[in-house]
Amino acid sequence: MNLVLLGPPGAGKGTQATKIAEKYNIPHISTGDIFRKNVKEGTPLGKKAQEYMSKGELVPDDLVIELVEDRLTEDDCKGGFLLDGFPRTVYQAEKFDVYLKEKNSAIDKVLDIDVEKDILIDRMIGRRVCKNCGATYHVKNMPPKKEGICDVCGGEIYQRADDTLETVSNRLQVYLEQTSPLIDYYEKAGNIAHINGAGALDKVFSEIVEVLGA
Ligand code: AP5
Ligand code: MG
Ligand code: ZN
Repeated sequence: MNLVLLGPPGAGKGTQATKIAEKYNIPHISTGDIFRKNVKEGTPLGKKAQEYMSKGELVPDDLVIELVEDRLTEDDCKGGFLLDGFPRTVYQAEKFDVYLKEKNSAIDKVLDIDVEKDILIDRMIGRRVCKNCGATYHVKNMPPKKEGICDVCGGEIYQRADDTLETVSNRLQVYLEQTSPLIDYYEKAGNIAHINGAGALDKVFSEIVEVLGA
């Protein structure tokens, strides 16, 4: 199963992706997570990506496309993949379609998770992430059992550098301008499903399972 998660920042793509990957046994590939790992390790890619991420801008298309295509050649992608945060521009989507076609492959489903703006801002400002394993929490909605400590691995919990009010506003604007046209793009392709992301975590997940089949 080849899946793409679409939706504004803070919609819950990463949160749902963890559950989808587990249930359908496909790797969760988040371009944002890959960039953050590179930033943390201080690689050349990380240094380049950070210039854009810190402002809430998109990393240049060709850099992202190469990264994803590289990742998809790894063994764990043989039975499918779950992309989170890619494609994010029409250009990325077109290039990706060409790539898949060459491999005699295609996207089975694009899950468009939609949430209204006020909730998105609250979710991002309150988000906390484990430094070690990447597990995601929220100070109000999903706090860890012990403050500041990850339930999964005991790692330290931090706030993402791009989760400040100023950067969040720009990320929402960038989504509207550069990513939301993808809804139309995949509407035309006929493989998109719309998911209401405003409900509780399990409710959103049930909607996704209904679309994908149990
Ligand atoms: P990326 O990491 O992809 O960030 P994003 O798209 O802005 O999305 P988020 O990770 O902020 O939100 P999410 O939908 O995953 O929400 P989450 O599950 O965490 O990208 C970061 C940057 O990298 C970009 O700005 C760009 O610079 C660069 N980049 C990445 N990909 C790129 C690409 N393809 N091209 C160019 N540049 C790229 O949930 C949010 C919060 O809400 C959490 O606290 C969670 O606990 C809570 N929550 C989730 N679901 C619920 C629920 N149902 N009820 C209550 N709370 C909930
Ligand atoms: Mg995410
Ligand atoms: Zn952890």
